[in-house]
Amino acid sequence: MAQIKLIFVFLLYGKTFLVVNSVSNITPESITPCEDTDSVSLTTKGEGESKAWTGSVNVPFEIDPNTEFTMDFRWYKNDELEKNGKILKGKACYYIQKFAENIWKQIKKAANPPIDGECTVKSGKYEFVDFVPQLNNMFIPIGGTGKANAKITMTKDGKTFCAVVIADLNLRTNFEKCDIKGWTCNNSVEVAGKHDLTFRCNTTLTTQDVQIWLWQFASPATITSLTIENCERVELAFGCSAENKPIQWLKLRNIGTVDFLSVPLIHNPPMIIIQNVTNIETIRRDTFLQMKKTLYKPGCFIPITDLHSIVLKDVNIGRIETEAFKNITDMKKFEMENVKINRVEYGAIRLSFEPDVVGLVKNSNIGVMEPLAFQLVGDGFSMLNTKIDNMWGSSLNGTIYDFEFSNNSVSMIQAGAIALLAKNVYMNNNLFRDIESGAFRKISPGLLHDSQRNFGTLYFSYDFKNNLIEHVEDGGIRPDIEAYKNVATHINYTENVLQCSCEAVSWLGAEVDLGFGYSVLKDFNTMILDPSNKNTCNFNPCMCFGVRSPYKRSSATALVF
Ligand SMILES: *[C@@H]1O[C@H](CO)[C@@H](O)[C@H](O)[C@H]1NC(C)=O
Ligand SMILES: *[C@@H]1O[C@H](CO)[C@@H](O)[C@H](O)[C@H]1NC(C)=O
Ligand SMILES: *[C@@H]1O[C@H](CO)[C@@H](O)[C@H](O)[C@H]1NC(C)=O
Ligand SMILES: *[C@@H]1O[C@H](CO)[C@@H](O)[C@H](O)[C@H]1NC(C)=O
Ligand SMILES: *[C@@H]1O[C@H](CO)[C@@H](O)[C@H](O)[C@H]1NC(C)=O
Ligand SMILES: *[C@@H]1O[C@H](CO)[C@@H](O)[C@H](O)[C@H]1NC(C)=O
Ligand SMILES: *[C@@H]1O[C@H](CO)[C@@H](O)[C@H](O)[C@H]1NC(C)=O
Repeated sequence: MAQIKLIFVFLLYGKTFLVVNSVSNITPESITPCEDTDSVSLTTKGEGESKAWTGSVNVPFEIDPNTEFTMDFRWYKNDELEKNGKILKGKACYYIQKFAENIWKQIKKAANPPIDGECTVKSGKYEFVDFVPQLNNMFIPIGGTGKANAKITMTKDGKTFCAVVIADLNLRTNFEKCDIKGWTCNNSVEVAGKHDLTFRCNTTLTTQDVQIWLWQFASPATITSLTIENCERVELAFGCSAENKPIQWLKLRNIGTVDFLSVPLIHNPPMIIIQNVTNIETIRRDTFLQMKKTLYKPGCFIPITDLHSIVLKDVNIGRIETEAFKNITDMKKFEMENVKINRVEYGAIRLSFEPDVVGLVKNSNIGVMEPLAFQLVGDGFSMLNTKIDNMWGSSLNGTIYDFEFSNNSVSMIQAGAIALLAKNVYMNNNLFRDIESGAFRKISPGLLHDSQRNFGTLYFSYDFKNNLIEHVEDGGIRPDIEAYKNVATHINYTENVLQCSCEAVSWLGAEVDLGFGYSVLKDFNTMILDPSNKNTCNFNPCMCFGVRSPYKRSSATALVF
């Protein structure tokens, strides 16, 4: 059994795991010899904490303080072993003494013959009968969760000891004291007498997996913020607790992978900043929400200040699920900068802002925006310098006083994609590759704070300038012109380049009965064609009228209201 524990010890304490201190829950599943060796022969009885081990361990050479080991550590992902292991090398003895004294004592006693040396194991066969290792409350310097496979090899004098350990690991990073084991505490910038805590994974490590339960790790009562940085993988759980922990903001910085764990009752800190994260596979439903709005919260401390700010910068995200940002109100800040998102699902981001706050998405890259991907209510929202592959109907929805959509490049914008009530609309310097019929038709004049403003003297504005349009279906480039006609509006429709025939786009001279509203349409078309507005048409008929986009499901007829 010495070897069993040695193996656990190696599994858990590579040379590289020195800095992080974690509390663990380890459930060993099996320990088997490598092919062509007879190093271990163990069977188990029982489950979980009472699992008992019986059998023998063959040590072919004396293990002494200088014996080195190699460990190939791999997580199981979807029941398959990771392709590339993490290779760790180190001296066995050192790790036993430093981290596993307690369990090592148990092993030495349980072995037959018993092991006497502090850290020397003579060669020979050690027997174990119904040995139940006490693995709880082990402090171990590694984080991570899941099923793991570790192959441990020791070689000496041409002889090899080799075994494979499979175990479930559930490890949490824990705070002990400032200035040790990766934690530093600085005086808070914001609150006198309080502390900003930073947990820094040792950047020389290759195997730093950290799991933090924000409201459940031991921390000083003076904590105001937590920063986690320079880690390979961080699993974060916002599960609520009964503790009143005054964390005002959480920052995740310079991290390979971040995974927000699903927990029953979420408590977000007021401000969350995520910066330079290579991969967030999924932001799941209910990741960001305001705790006070959840109905059932026994055992949770109800915060005075709820979540109000989210900043994402230099982050790659696979998918944002429905209700991932769940109807967050009174937001003080919402910013996405240089964020790449493959898919924003139906109803994923629903926010309303405090007065004067401008939500911002810039320099970003979004694949698909499903219907109601963004539902926004507030004084301002800007989407700038962003590349979007496909905007589905109503993918940008809400009521925004100042809406700015500039310097973007959109491959496909479907019917009704931007469905907004706005006082001021600025859409400048965009590239639209394919515009479906009615893409902008749900942009209407509207107000958030009607009661406070006087409609009589109020001007709405719609500024559509300097856009390049490659393909457009009939009626694709108009906002809700009937509604604009009914209120005082400044419309600027200038310096756009349409790589198609303007006649086709706007049906000047089309031999159809235009019916009710024709004069409004005519005014709009006249405005586009007015030479003083400097819109350019390339007279390329096949680029527009009559040509359906490949994304279009039905063969709708020309949209003429
Ligand atoms: C703590 O403060 C010191 C001195 O101002 C600074 O050098 C250090 O980077 C800070 N540590 C963290 C983790 O912010
Ligand atoms: C990182 O770990 C290495 C190896 O254990 C150690 O020598 C180094 O001092 C550590 N660096 C920091 C910043 O903790
Ligand atoms: C971003 O994080 C990675 C680690 O994930 C780090 O190697 C890199 O230096 C960080 N970049 C910046 C600009 O801090
Ligand atoms: C969103 O939150 C507001 C304010 O708490 C509430 O009035 C509204 O019903 C919520 N909407 C949805 C769809 O949950
Ligand atoms: C989108 O926003 C508008 C204006 O706020 C609203 O009337 C409409 O119901 C919303 N939903 C859809 C699906 O367009
Ligand atoms: C759009 O891009 C131009 C040229 O790169 C730049 O001058 C302008 O400030 C940008 N506008 C916005 C709103 O970012
Ligand atoms: C229309 O464009 C002109 C010239 O660029 C500008 O001065 C004016 O403010 C614009 N009007 C609106 C309503 O944006």
